[in-house]
Formats: sequence, C-alpha cells, structure tokens
Amino acid sequence: MSDDESRQQRNGSHVHGTDLAGSNEFWGDESSAVRDALQWAVARMARSSDPRSTAHPESEIAAAAGETVTSDGIGSAEAMRIFKDVLEPATRSQGHELNLAYIPGAPNRSAVAFDAVTGSANIFGGLWEAGAGAIHAENEVLAWLASLLQWPDTAVGCFVSGGTTGNLSALFAARKRALTRLGAKPEGGWTLVYTSGAHSSIATAAEVLDVATAEVPVDERGHMTGAALREVLERTPSAFAVVTSAGTTNTGVIDDLADVADACAEYGVWMHVDGAYGGAGLLAPSVREQFNGIERADSFIVDPHKWLFAPYDCCALLYREPEAARNAHSQHASYLDHIDREQPNPSDLALHLSRRVRGLPLWFGLATHGIERYREAIEQTLRTAREVAAGIARIEHLDLLVAPELSVVMFDRPGWDEADYNTWCYRLAHEGTMLCVPTRWRGRIVLRVVFVNPDTSSAEVLKILEETTR
Ligand SMILES: Cc1ncc(COP(=O)(O)O)c(C=O)c1O
Repeated sequence: MSDDESRQQRNGSHVHGTDLAGSNEFWGDESSAVRDALQWAVARMARSSDPRSTAHPESEIAAAAGETVTSDGIGSAEAMRIFKDVLEPATRSQGHELNLAYIPGAPNRSAVAFDAVTGSANIFGGLWEAGAGAIHAENEVLAWLASLLQWPDTAVGCFVSGGTTGNLSALFAARKRALTRLGAKPEGGWTLVYTSGAHSSIATAAEVLDVATAEVPVDERGHMTGAALREVLERTPSAFAVVTSAGTTNTGVIDDLADVADACAEYGVWMHVDGAYGGAGLLAPSVREQFNGIERADSFIVDPHKWLFAPYDCCALLYREPEAARNAHSQHASYLDHIDREQPNPSDLALHLSRRVRGLPLWFGLATHGIERYREAIEQTLRTAREVAAGIARIEHLDLLVAPELSVVMFDRPGWDEADYNTWCYRLAHEGTMLCVPTRWRGRIVLRVVFVNPDTSSAEVLKILEETTR
C-alpha cells in the first residue's frame, strides 16, 4: 500500500477500495460526504428486511432536527447524523413484508442499489442525444412490456414519475388525437368516461384537461362491462377516451377488457388501461386470461414501484400509436429546434422535458434476475393473497367480502364499528405488528390487505388477523 493509499484509508476516504479523494475545484474535498452517504446506503441495502419505521408529527421532527439549511452549512457529518437519527426513522419503509396498506412497494435489492448508480451517473434522460445508452436500456424494458401486452413492435413509451402523471399524459394524447380526427372540439367540450372504481388520479386528469366526465355503472363485483359502457357511449358523442382499470386500487378487480375494447372500437374512442397496480399481473399465467382485450388498448400504464419490485418513482407509460403521443407531447421552442425528432426522445412522449432515467433500476433488476424470477415473484404474491383469503373465510369471527382477482383481499369483522376498526389499525401500526388501514366498500367500512412482497408469509398474516380481531 502506498503512503497516499494508507493515508486515505486512515482518513476513511475509501469505500470498498475506491479512492474518494477526487474533488471539484469549487466545492473542494467532498470525500467524507460521499463516503458517509454511500456507507449508509450500503448498510441499508444489506439489511434482510426494511425497518418498521413510521411517520412522526411535524413538530417532533422539527424539534429533533433543528435548523439544517443555514448560511454556512452544518457539514456533511451533522447532516448525515440528522438523516440517520431523525429523518429516515420518521418515514414509513414501504417494503416491509407486513406493510399491507394502500398499495405498498417491495423493490428487490438489485433495483434499489441501481437507483444509487442511476443517481450517481446524473444522466439527462429527456433526449436521446444526451441519454442514449440509458434510454436504450429503458426502451428494452418498455419493448418487453409491449410484448406482454401483445402490442405491435411499433409501440413506444417512456418512464414517468408515477401513475398520476402516466394517466394524465396518456389522456392528453387521447384528447389531442380526437381533436386531430374531428378537426374541432365538440360543442360543449370533450367527455372522459370511467367508473367509480377508477383511481382518483383520473378525476384529477379530467379536471386538469378541463373535460366533462361520464360514469359507467359497475357490475356487482365492481367491473366495467361492455354493455354498460355501450349505453354511456351511445348517449355521449363527445367521449374522447375510456379509462379502464386492470386492477382497481380499492378491490383489485380487472374490468371486462375484451368487451370494453369492442365498445371502444365501435365508437372510435381511445381505450386507456390503468394498470398502475395490477398491470404486473400480465406476467402471471394464473391471471393472464383476465387481461384479454388489453392487446387492443391505445395506451397503458404500470407502476413498477408498486408490484414490479422497483423503487420509487417509476411508471411505465406505453402508446400503441407513436404519432398520437408525439403530436401531443413534443415541445417546440427555438432552442429545441435542433433536436433530432427521429430519435426515441422520452420528452416527446409525456408531460416532461428534463427527466432522470428512472427506468434503469427496473432494467437492472430484470437483467440481474431474469423475467422468470419476476414471474415467480408475482405468482408468489398471488398465492399469498389466495391463501390469506381462504384463511379469512375459515376464521369464524371474520367475513371474506371479495375473493381476490389479483392480490387485494377485502374482509370485515362483523360487530365492529368504524371506531373499532380505527383503534385496531392504529394499535397494530403503533406496535409495528402489521400495517393495514380500513377502506370503504359499498358504503361501509371494511378492511383491505394488498400483497406485493414475495416474502410476506400468509401464515403470519393469518395468525395476526385471527388473534388480534377476536
Ligand atoms: C390504479 C392506480 N392508478 C393510478 C395510481 C396513481 O399512481 P401514483 O401514486 O404512482 O401517482 C394508483 C396509485 O395507487 C393506482 O392504484
């Protein structure tokens, strides 16, 4: 070991043999900031399970953290200490096996590690001319997703921050295509068609786009059916798009996509499939049939940060017709005129210009483990959901309300009122036993658990449910 190397090791300016002494002239020696940040990241990723941490009140965090953004800085060691001791413990780690609330996320370690790599590379992913190599890898993943949808090779897409942005971007392209085809806005404006099961981001998208909405009544299990959709489309000539769910957030059911596709084709309306949560099920042979008809959709989203084992924030957005997407999303300005529009520029396909290459952690996870491992992971979570549903049906003091089509299980505890549900959920969350929050279903309060983590044990969940709801 040279003198220089031993000095650096003594100073701790190495992470796994890499010299961290490099510094910018202006910012000076940042080696200890880099070392401390990376060492924490490595230690966090080395854990076998996420910690059971949770949000704390703002006043408590503010008092413990103190003032950190100051004119002279507090130094990286102190900032890191505050992050470790105060800030990170006051967040909920999403990936814990017993986090079954909302739609959690359970990224694998390879994908999480690669998020750090992606950040370090600081790639501008909006334009091919800046991010070509990284965009190539993202596009390979998008092409694979298009093949799961059984779409033509000409389909295009990009990664955006989440389902909300993905849905809005797709619907903006849909409205633009309708305008191009019709030549003018219909008198009274456009109408967006969806069901009460659609995610709240769809109502938000309608508001942002300033379009009217029409609701399709659902069947007894919460699906949009072709017959009900036809009735709405028949009396809504201003309809420009139908949003259909491949996995509703609340109950995890998949609309009747094949019948919906027939109706959309008949009425010449854009079919958007929101698979933010459930789209991952396309990989699983045991549920693939329920997605039939998706091959005829015009746009589709899936959030890999939900059920495809990638970290936040990651939504894959795909379009069948590249032209429809580009017509809506390409931005034009004198300083953008030189851009080669023949290249697959992600900025031409969604509501963004600058972007990080947020598809790379998913790409790395897939490249590392292979598609079959991902398929098994999805099937594993589906099995867990079915086992928990069957177990709940056997527990005398619980009622199974909706058998899972995907990995959402809904049930209730007859005899409990809203206050009982809230007390139970809060106690379990507070003790760190399990996270499960109540929801509403058909106007009443019920319980709901969602499985996205292949490490979750159905036996453990059932034991907790049985013992704590007596
Ligand atoms: C079906 C569905 N669509 C859209 C969204 C919104 O996604 P995001 O939270 O990534 O914006 C969600 C989130 O849970 C969802 O379940």
